[in-house]
Amino acid sequence: VTVHVDCDQPGHAISPRLVGAFFEDINFGGDGGLNAELIKNGSFEVPRAMLGWRRLGEGLSAAVEHEAPFSAGNPSFIRLRGDGSGALANEGFRGIGVHQSESLRLAFWGRAEAGKTVPLAVRLVGESGEALATKSFELAGSSWRLYETEIAASQTDKRARLELSLPKGGTIDLDLVSLCPVATWRDRPHGLRRDLVQLLADLKPAFFRFPGGCIVEGSQLKYRYDWKTTIGPRETRRLIVNRWNTEFAHRPAPDYYQSFALGFFEYFQLADDIGAEPLPIINCGMACQFNTGELVPLEELQPYIQDALDLIEFANGPVTSEWGATRAAMGRTEPFNLRMLGVGNEQWGPEYFERYERFAEALQREHPEIELVSTSGPFPSGERFDYAWPQLRKLKAPIVDEHCYAMPDWFLREAHRYDDYDRNGPEVFMGEYAAQSIQIASPRNRNTLRCAIAEAAFLTGIERNSDIVTMSAYAPLFAHEEAWQWRPDLIWFDNLKSYGTPSYYVQQAFSLHRGDTALPVAVEDARPPLPPGGRFGLGTHETIAEFREVSVTSSDGAEVWSATPEVHDLIVQDGEWRVSDAVIANQNDRGSSRVLFGDPDWSGATLRVQARKLKGREGFTI
Ligand code: AHR
Repeated sequence: VTVHVDCDQPGHAISPRLVGAFFEDINFGGDGGLNAELIKNGSFEVPRAMLGWRRLGEGLSAAVEHEAPFSAGNPSFIRLRGDGSGALANEGFRGIGVHQSESLRLAFWGRAEAGKTVPLAVRLVGESGEALATKSFELAGSSWRLYETEIAASQTDKRARLELSLPKGGTIDLDLVSLCPVATWRDRPHGLRRDLVQLLADLKPAFFRFPGGCIVEGSQLKYRYDWKTTIGPRETRRLIVNRWNTEFAHRPAPDYYQSFALGFFEYFQLADDIGAEPLPIINCGMACQFNTGELVPLEELQPYIQDALDLIEFANGPVTSEWGATRAAMGRTEPFNLRMLGVGNEQWGPEYFERYERFAEALQREHPEIELVSTSGPFPSGERFDYAWPQLRKLKAPIVDEHCYAMPDWFLREAHRYDDYDRNGPEVFMGEYAAQSIQIASPRNRNTLRCAIAEAAFLTGIERNSDIVTMSAYAPLFAHEEAWQWRPDLIWFDNLKSYGTPSYYVQQAFSLHRGDTALPVAVEDARPPLPPGGRFGLGTHETIAEFREVSVTSSDGAEVWSATPEVHDLIVQDGEWRVSDAVIANQNDRGSSRVLFGDPDWSGATLRVQARKLKGREGFTI
């Protein structure tokens, strides 16, 4: 293979926004992830009473109450009555992760009965029951008061719990119970988890898209992401159920709520910290079309449009403006330099375009300096894209967001996707993409090297066409090892550790080593073309997961490929031949698998395909 680079041609500039990051509160990316808070439902606002808390023993009664709360915006609190030796325990987010000797700020609002002083014992307890830290408080009087102190665990534990207990006869009310590392990103109180932000910062993303994803839309409109309820004092932020809690998730987490401790102010601040341009996405009057698809009637859309206008003022307005003053009250007088705004997440159909048109009309009139990002719907090609693009051209949309979750083969092929895109139309933002090792959105997908290589190939196409594809971002960004709803993901973490996947290092390579100019490149490939592949089927009622091993043998008995269900997208390369996409599963994980051979000598050879089941039948041969 000879590669010719034409250095005498001018080439085109590579977009400075080429590689960015996309954050969605999915896979416990927000609470239990970026948000360093370790207590789940410390505000007791989750409508499933006492979610995250459980009583240990009989000697303590606990009930959620609402009478004379600490703050009207946070109406629920817990009333504890001591009657012996029981305790109330918080489980954290799949446990409370603590590092030995790390300073943790323990805080809560509390009150006792009038004229009484009640002792409260707090213990941090390790997974196997040993006390890692203890602290005693005296709650005095019937007015709400903030109690706080620092504690440190005597040893590292991934699944600790926090226990509260009080003596017989004591009654107290508690709210906003919090345990948070003192050392957060930039050491902000109640801040973000350092290691996770560091991994994100190390990508040096050009922009930061937030807060989703489907959570922008919500499964119903009442659960959409309403930015105004996510700012201001934390105790007034209105908690809602996370869209990835519901049956619409591929692996729902019934305990998934959004406290909004990580809200729009924090997103803007984070983007600023890591030197990324903020790209907020707002709801366009549509709930997720994979869910209810609920619509705001066109004549009632104005408040949604106003929310978008107010968001621009919140980000950029002077401190003398209403929303600029709100930003300043949260500690930021300087503007956040918002230059892009997304209208809707991943919408499709005429219902989107008639709504986008109304948003665009108002936003472009009031804020011509803001570039609007519109959407062409989910998944590569297909009728939705075909319908969307002409509409968006007609509406003179500046930037169009495409989302592509597909098999590695698709990404390899589509390295040429943009070679023929119309240069006179909108710019393209490949806003969500990731190679799927098994099938789109399958919970059995893995972050394989093959996926990462396919994404790298695709990125070469994006870079080469960055005169038209000006932005791109992998999705999803974060996933908690024990609480994910979707995979593959870019960065994995548990309660103590975090790491980047091969896809992460692909993103980082393209981001850190972005060139200035794309020069014309011609590839001369003297190799003979690949012969056609063979196919074999697994049988209509069998799924690949049922098989222990699938193998392909040549007519002379030599095994040329085998795979177990765990690694069934593995490419085995053995000298002269190779097999790619040995298993292409359809929506049910059933159907045929394709085998391609790189060595012409294999073309026309007789192959034996054997599949051995985990149980029962030995297998079959084709
Ligand atoms: O990234 C996961 C989901 O994929 C996003 O929420 C949505 O935009 C897309 O369908």
